[in-house]
Amino acid sequence: MKKINLTILFSALSLSVFATDEKAVAVMPSSPGLGLSQTNLLIVILLIFAFVLLFVSITLLNAFKVMYREQLNPTPYSAPEKLPVLDYGSWLKQKKNKPSVWEKLLSLKPIEQEKDLEIDHAYDGIKELNNPVPAWFNVLFFGTMIFAICYLFYYHIGGYGDLQDQEYANEMVKAQQDKVAFLEKSSNTIDENSVKFDNTQAVLEEGKGIFNTNCVVCHGDKGQGSIGPNLTDEFWLHGGGVNNVFKTIKYGVPDKGMISWEKTLSPKQISAVANFIMSLKDSKPEGAKAPQGDKYEEKDPQDNAMKSVDDSLSITDATKK
Ligand code: HEC
Repeated sequence: MKKINLTILFSALSLSVFATDEKAVAVMPSSPGLGLSQTNLLIVILLIFAFVLLFVSITLLNAFKVMYREQLNPTPYSAPEKLPVLDYGSWLKQKKNKPSVWEKLLSLKPIEQEKDLEIDHAYDGIKELNNPVPAWFNVLFFGTMIFAICYLFYYHIGGYGDLQDQEYANEMVKAQQDKVAFLEKSSNTIDENSVKFDNTQAVLEEGKGIFNTNCVVCHGDKGQGSIGPNLTDEFWLHGGGVNNVFKTIKYGVPDKGMISWEKTLSPKQISAVANFIMSLKDSKPEGAKAPQGDKYEEKDPQDNAMKSVDDSLSITDATKK
């Protein structure tokens, strides 16, 4: 018997090893998810089935063993021993030994101890009990004290946590950072329609930097013009005003040697350099190139209107995108 059992156990063990291997191979390559192919799934199900079968057979085997043993030498029958029937009081006493969690939590005392709780006075025969403070209340009460001490130590003595004022300041700093990030992001969505005239120092400075690195070769260091036209007069080939200039810089005039800067400069940078060019107006640099194009009537520097519909469109349309 023992031998049969052992062999079954061993085969089960080897089977289980095989099963885990199978599973590992099947699951590993395609995590997440079960990711089993149908064949693998079938194998796994068959293995599980084999395990269940094995378990059932071992149980049956044990049962048969018991039956076989009983058949060989049966255990004599003995009548169950009779327990005395308890009355309610003694049953209660037997049970009352251990107070339940609920009773502990509420600090309830058994009714037999009521006598000990009585306070030594009575009004019209009504007596008062000196019930203990419930455990839950004590836990809360002492809990608040411990919390207060920890709080005091953490915030006021140790100075580990930030006080309200500091937290406020921190949040303001964070909000400021968020705001800057937001503006940065939104300024990068500027296009020729939404670009605004802006002559703040920071913008002009940035524009000047961009102009000096990218544009000077063709437009001269003061925008006076060389290969490219003079950018300081009021005559424009593709329209003046920040919107037209933005558009010219963005899409360029590739046929005439003006590159499209869309890919090199961010919208924010194009806006800055366009505004810088706006600021060059009437600067009358030395050696200025003769005016080219039409005089651009600017009613207002903030004038955002495009020169005309068919203006640079005829040229830029082909180069757009
Ligand atoms: C390779 C030379 C070259 C470079 C570099 C160059 N441009 Fe130009 N740019 C030109 C030429 C050429 C034209 C004239 C296009 C035409 O005749 O239609 C022009 C035209 C322009 C115009 C339109 C002028 C008008 O009269 O309408 C603007 C604005 C302009 N450039 C801005 C810039 C800016 C800003 C940069 C730098 C980011 C720049 N350009 C870099 C060659 C250049």
